[in-house]
Amino acid sequence: MRLLAVASLEEDVKLAKPVYNDNGQILISSGIPLTNLMIKRLNQLGISFVYIEDENTEDIIIRPAITESTRREAMGLMKQTFEFVHTDQTLTKRFSFDKVEKQFRSVIRDVIDQVNGHKEAVSMLSEVCAHDNYILNHSLNVTIYALALSMKMKNITKKQLEEIGLGAMLHDVGKLLIPLDILMKPSRLTNEEYAIIKKHTEYGFELLRREHSIPLTAAHCAFQHHERLNGKGYPRGLIGNEIHLYGKIIGIADVYDAVTSNRVYRQAMLPHEGLEILYAGSGTEFDSEMIEAFRKAIVIYPNGLSVHLHDGRRGVVLRQNPAVSDRPVLLILEENLHKVEKPYELDMTKDLTVLISETDTTLLGKKVF
Ligand SMILES: [Fe+2]
Repeated sequence: MRLLAVASLEEDVKLAKPVYNDNGQILISSGIPLTNLMIKRLNQLGISFVYIEDENTEDIIIRPAITESTRREAMGLMKQTFEFVHTDQTLTKRFSFDKVEKQFRSVIRDVIDQVNGHKEAVSMLSEVCAHDNYILNHSLNVTIYALALSMKMKNITKKQLEEIGLGAMLHDVGKLLIPLDILMKPSRLTNEEYAIIKKHTEYGFELLRREHSIPLTAAHCAFQHHERLNGKGYPRGLIGNEIHLYGKIIGIADVYDAVTSNRVYRQAMLPHEGLEILYAGSGTEFDSEMIEAFRKAIVIYPNGLSVHLHDGRRGVVLRQNPAVSDRPVLLILEENLHKVEKPYELDMTKDLTVLISETDTTLLGKKVF
């Protein structure tokens, strides 16, 4: 299978993975030739990339970071909790976290175990989902990224991982108190609207800190995930180590998921492009050591991505090298614009002179290679 931009899809191409909604229902099936109507639907759903069937790369396997059942369980639990907040906008009542605390802890442990047991770095491109609830999906992705990053850092304890997991799952809970028309506005926000959106950090903190079963550190994840090292973040403009460790970690995971996710109003970036955004702020906005840890934690060139090498060869990412996230194993299909007779594997950790110069998610004609 190959990874392709929806913008370049053509009729008769077959999806290699179905497109699901949040409830796990199939919206568009795999294996059947796409019609123009289905392509239009993919665009309407705001999906930027899909996996398509491709005879050259049949044996590429995409392994999700967490199992489908854990994803669904976590989403269901957050939905249940978040819905309660949504109907109680007074900010004076508690949102009875005690009832779901045990379930949260158990699902966070499952996520920790699965991310830990996943030999490869994590990639969320394997989940081609049309999300009707962006906040839920974003919260779960941020949790997975924040945990994967934390696991690459030294001296993080199991207890800390659990707190980071809970803090990440609930980091945007304050957004439920922001009017939907502002939150989902597809066009540019006015200064006033942006000021209202920024309030979600304080709202989240207020909601969470009242809950005795939630550690205060998790409340600070909501409060601090938009703070930046150079003091240019919000709501308080904290500087450097005034920002809690968890706030820094979740801030990185949050930005990365925001830019690499499908949104109706803009195209998602590919992982290496999302990483560039983080690098641009490394040392100024974000802790540079954490950015390095994050680079090791995520899949930079996902399986199925077409790549051009600096030496004129082209191929597709076949599988990951667990220890080196930016040097995967490729299947070479083309040399100097000529198809090779027999596609062959190239392990980028064994030949360090090889560099990826470009990635390609377009479909030229019916065949890329
Ligand atoms: Fe946020």
